[in-house]
Amino acid sequence: MEEKTYTMPRIGEKAPEFKAVTTQGDINFPSDYKGSWVILFSHPADFTPVCTSEFMTFATMEKQFNEANCKLVGLSVDGLYSHIAWLRTIKEKIEYKGMKNVEVTFPLIEDITMEVAKTYGMLQPGESSTKAVRAVFFIDPQGIIRTIIYYPLSLGRNFEEIYRVLIGLQTADAFSVALPADWRPGDDVIVPTAGSCGVAKERMESKNDMTCYDWFFCTKKLDKEKVLSTVIKKK
Ligand code: BEZ
Repeated sequence: MEEKTYTMPRIGEKAPEFKAVTTQGDINFPSDYKGSWVILFSHPADFTPVCTSEFMTFATMEKQFNEANCKLVGLSVDGLYSHIAWLRTIKEKIEYKGMKNVEVTFPLIEDITMEVAKTYGMLQPGESSTKAVRAVFFIDPQGIIRTIIYYPLSLGRNFEEIYRVLIGLQTADAFSVALPADWRPGDDVIVPTAGSCGVAKERMESKNDMTCYDWFFCTKKLDKEKVLSTVIKKK
């Protein structure tokens, strides 16, 4: 039989569909998450230290992600009972950096066939052919992949950056702007580049609310409160 080939999903494409068994019951992905942002992330293996530190951090921040209309879904190529045992150990035994009694309530997918991991390019044989790398897929409420970040086995993710990316994507969409290096809510944002000589001239020569470093690079203020009240809905 011919071996199935897998292509890596890319930014701007529809998130590949799959059905899976998780620690929170069965899911149909991404249709169960329509209307929400979702972060689908993989980890190499249960009962490993870097992954444990990451799960405790993600679980502790889950409410913050949910308030930004984002759900979390984890995956590793371990089985369901291993997942359950590991999450119970985290809650009952692990105290780390002030986090303790941490309950992971977002779904953790079992992927012993590695089908989902292969479909999403989470298995990268140069790193490991039996463990998923630390992939992070940001999927929008229409099921489109908007950002992908990959980390190797040996480096835990930066969850502040993951949260910043989520808020940045929503801000760029809501205000039709782009965001400069290291942008955080409250920083100036980039207005779309002038598309005609007339607009370029006007931007450079007339008084307006923009700061132009040159005709193609103009920023404007975007109030932090305006960003946060648009993106974050506290219940
Ligand atoms: C860890 O999570 O600690 C880990 C997992 C796989 C390889 C190396 C480290």
